[in-house]
Amino acid sequence: MKTIENRTTIRKYSNRELSNTLLRELLARAEHTPTMGNLQLYSVVATRDQEMKRKLAPAHFGQPMVENAAVVLTFCADFRRTTIWAENRKGNPGYGNFLSFLNAATDTLLYCQTFTNLAEEEGLGTCFLGTTIYNSKQIIDILKLPKLVMPVATLTVGYPDESPKVSDRLPIESILHEETYNDYTPESIDRYYKEKESLEENLHFVEINKTETLAQIFTDIRYKKSDNEAISVGLLEALKQQGFLK
Ligand SMILES: Cc1cc2nc3c(=O)[nH]c(=O)nc-3n(C[C@H](O)[C@H](O)[C@H](O)COP(=O)(O)O)c2cc1C
Repeated sequence: MKTIENRTTIRKYSNRELSNTLLRELLARAEHTPTMGNLQLYSVVATRDQEMKRKLAPAHFGQPMVENAAVVLTFCADFRRTTIWAENRKGNPGYGNFLSFLNAATDTLLYCQTFTNLAEEEGLGTCFLGTTIYNSKQIIDILKLPKLVMPVATLTVGYPDESPKVSDRLPIESILHEETYNDYTPESIDRYYKEKESLEENLHFVEINKTETLAQIFTDIRYKKSDNEAISVGLLEALKQQGFLK
């Protein structure tokens, strides 16, 4: 049985069709997610057309799921619909600012995760693509996103054609702070990361990446300071372009 404990990201999909009826039903059910003021500050662009997927793929660094999944869903923080509604109803919308982006992004990510849970319950596989905020300007152009609409998450969705091993998680003691924040010490870090660092696949990972520690794979190879800083510049430009920053 599918439970939260045995779920995994799915990156390989079968050719089985994902009907529009099921997709719409799942997206509609996910609308029960809580949102700020019940304003539902999100929109979703569904990409099924192969040519459109091909155009989107480079923005996701050519990750093959984009072209191979039945559908690619781009979840967008959207204050546009609410703004137009308010303008047409004598309101004075003031949502071209960073706070409003963060509120809309919060709604969007919660909605996206509810959809993911429902889709997985239905036997579908999904992969969350964080690359959406890495190359947001490209995605804005391809999907023709107007002002006050900003892509924040992408999911590739389809029926699974793989059953990957369930990945590890940190122990709950490392996450939960009772009453106040209990800061980490070298000893507690050793304890919390011991299992992760001794997993066979992670030892292998360190070996093939020729690093000394597992942490260095993240800090020096996968999510480097220089990349993070350069990508942040593009992200801030995209937020300006979409009217969320001055
Ligand atoms: C913010 C975020 C960004 C992610 N970006 C990618 C991605 O670009 N490509 C990918 O294959 N998986 C991506 N993932 C999926 C993670 O790699 C995956 O959730 C993690 O390794 C744990 O594996 P699991 O989901 O199978 O438990 C992303 C997940 C999140 C939450």
